[in-house]
Amino acid sequence: MEEELLQISLILLNENHTIKPFNCGDNDLNEFLFEKAKLYTKELLATTFILENSTQTVAYYSIFNDSLKVEEEDFISKSALKRFLKVLVSQPKRHLKSFPALKIGRLGIDEKFKGKGLGRLIVNNLISETLELNQRQGCKLITVDAYRESLVFYERLNFEYLTENDKEDETRQMYFDLSTLV
Ligand SMILES: CC(C)(COP(=O)(O)OP(=O)(O)OC[C@H]1O[C@@H](n2cnc3c(N)ncnc32)[C@H](O)[C@@H]1OP(=O)(O)O)[C@@H](O)C(=O)NCCC(=O)NCCS
Repeated sequence: MEEELLQISLILLNENHTIKPFNCGDNDLNEFLFEKAKLYTKELLATTFILENSTQTVAYYSIFNDSLKVEEEDFISKSALKRFLKVLVSQPKRHLKSFPALKIGRLGIDEKFKGKGLGRLIVNNLISETLELNQRQGCKLITVDAYRESLVFYERLNFEYLTENDKEDETRQMYFDLSTLV
């Protein structure tokens, strides 16, 4: 990894932190960091972590507890839903239609730092941390409503699509099953 990436520290965002300049090329994600992230922290709606160097914010991500609901209408048939559940859970828990998850609410890498493996590092780190969290509370999946432009990124990280119904939408529901690592 390049020298510049070694100078980065990871910070849990709090009210007193001065957020350094950041631009990931997406206005909504930029705006969330500067206008909303602290408010979300205060109201316990999402926790934001910042990666920064001495001059700028390099990346940030916001996470919160989630529950992935598997609905019949997400699948072309009842048997397709059954097949999906069969892969996700072993007997005798297949009646479960809702799974504990951690959601990546937002993830942005500054334009200057894209393509250097930082996004992968952040998500892989989250995966290991959430796996560890299972020693205290159950969490089966990492979920994300992925922007169209980031679908390939999540595919590369072995996330899967929940349904084909959102194929044409601006965002698609994707998940990573932590039990594939156990
Ligand atoms: C999408 C994003 C988080 C990726 O972060 P990154 O640090 O640039 O990605 P990485 O360098 O870790 O890439 C990991 C892999 O994904 C691929 N990848 C990353 N971004 C990609 C893109 N936009 N299109 C296609 N492939 C992409 C890389 O080529 C790499 O593949 P590899 O397996 O061949 O090595 C970043 O580009 C970003 O902040 N985008 C704007 C905001 C956004 O879309 N956020 C996601 C919200 S859900």
